[in-house]
Amino acid sequence: MAINLKGRHFLKLLDFTPGEINYLLQLSKRFKELKQTGTPHRYLEGKNIVLLFEKTSTRTRCSFEVAGMDLGMGVTYLDPGSSQMGKKESIEDTARVLGRMYDGIEYRGYGQNIVEDLAAHAGVPVWNGLTTEFHPTQMLADILTVEENFPQGIKGKKLVFMGDAQNNVANSLMVVCSKLGLHFAACGPKEQMPKPELVETCKKIASETGASIQLTSDVKEACAGAHVIYTDIWVSMGEPDELWAQRIKLLEPYRVTKNVMAMADKEAIFLHCLPSFHDTKTTIGADIAKKFGINEMEVADEVFRSRQSKVFDEAENRMHTIKAVMYATLA
Ligand code: CP
Ligand code: NVA
Repeated sequence: MAINLKGRHFLKLLDFTPGEINYLLQLSKRFKELKQTGTPHRYLEGKNIVLLFEKTSTRTRCSFEVAGMDLGMGVTYLDPGSSQMGKKESIEDTARVLGRMYDGIEYRGYGQNIVEDLAAHAGVPVWNGLTTEFHPTQMLADILTVEENFPQGIKGKKLVFMGDAQNNVANSLMVVCSKLGLHFAACGPKEQMPKPELVETCKKIASETGASIQLTSDVKEACAGAHVIYTDIWVSMGEPDELWAQRIKLLEPYRVTKNVMAMADKEAIFLHCLPSFHDTKTTIGADIAKKFGINEMEVADEVFRSRQSKVFDEAENRMHTIKAVMYATLA
């Protein structure tokens, strides 16, 4: 049956079949080609979208903006704190108002319940640009990058997430790997493992797709034969700064170093959703260096800058994949 996602929300990958996810990846490749060849693709001229950000962003915001403009749409950006949402107006009322003016709504913020609530009342497609629980648009870019590096096929490949394995990116990677038949390993301290309920859901999906889910605190066991080593920051947006001391202590053994990369397959690539603390050239990085005496956090600078690191291809792919999501749900 032909796949048609028109009118659908994009809130979490659990809502999509493997066929639908693959369709979005195929579409992303087509859009990447159009962009690279300078071929105009203003397919959504006359439509307008609004981007609601309750947390900061570089990649996600710019991807939605450039993708929206490339598709010929008008784009409104509402930054953290500059709309009435939450403080003076409920999510339901905000959704009803924005749905009267715009053809699609992007939301980045806190609980998954907020983006689900927006979607329930907007009457137009709502796209999740990151919540506390999930970061689904990031996944399409990540898998596209894996496909580009393993063109012979990604089914059966092993992806290891190192570090805070219960954050939005780790959760979403576990979901997308189980949907697409990749072996997923969460490698971190037992305190930071994904929630059992989500693990169970993913294991059930994995049993149908040939994927597998492994939770381990043993770096060697996790990384043996891995094709993708992935990590993310140790304290996510919205979490209190007081967590840094505890997280550094818990997660330092899971920093992605040259030694860790050497445990993986020789063709292995390194991915990171970014932003990353791989040196002290940020205010937080410099502050942590002063307080805790470490110059790099979740990934060693030499790995971040290595030939195996595909993080900037991955960042570029955010734009092509977000374009595919908007096109598929609006056209
Ligand atoms: N990876 C990602 O979502 O980056 P931003 O926070 O810059 O959007
Ligand atoms: N886990 C990170 C991802 C940033 C793209 C955060 O939520 O801050």
